[in-house]
Amino acid sequence: MRLSREPLIKAAEITRRTGVLGRQIARAAKGEPLILVAVLKGALPFAADLLRRIPGEVALDFIRVHSYAGTQSSGRLEVSVRPEISLTGRNVLLVEDILDTGRTASHIMAAVLAMEPASLRLCALLDKPVRRVMPVEADFVGFTIEDHFVVGYGLDYNESYRNLPSIYRLEEE
Ligand code: PRP
Repeated sequence: MRLSREPLIKAAEITRRTGVLGRQIARAAKGEPLILVAVLKGALPFAADLLRRIPGEVALDFIRVHSYAGTQSSGRLEVSVRPEISLTGRNVLLVEDILDTGRTASHIMAAVLAMEPASLRLCALLDKPVRRVMPVEADFVGFTIEDHFVVGYGLDYNESYRNLPSIYRLEEE
């Protein structure tokens, strides 16, 4: 597998879109404090950038499940890192790098809803609606993409490429 020569989404486009999302999220929050819950590990760069583009009072926490091995989707999901802050009665913004089958997001949303937050919204940098298996939609989407395997800006292939500032397609050699 090799990286596409050109990025699918350049770092500067991500930065621009993240600013728009930050303002949309703040408007929807109507001045209420938020807890941004980043889904590890892939959402870490996006969450770190988005956090600084949301005006107002925003706390930060993390959640993690396992859902992939290489490029293959596996059925088994398990919450392995839980948020430290109590989400009960709080306005939670779940932040994902990508919505693919939707299994990860729907599993996490069910787990968070069981904690009885005041509200729960989902923000995904990338959305691949053609791959959806579970009926989950993000409230805020950065970019809707086709069925490419993408890496960079947090997204990995066997744990590599998360460090790339832009998003690339991974292609067959
Ligand atoms: C990836 C990605 C999303 C999820 C999307 O995470 O970060 O969380 O898969 O796929 P889905 O919609 O089909 O569930 P992964 O489990 O690979 O973990 P990682 O973030 O640590 O790379």
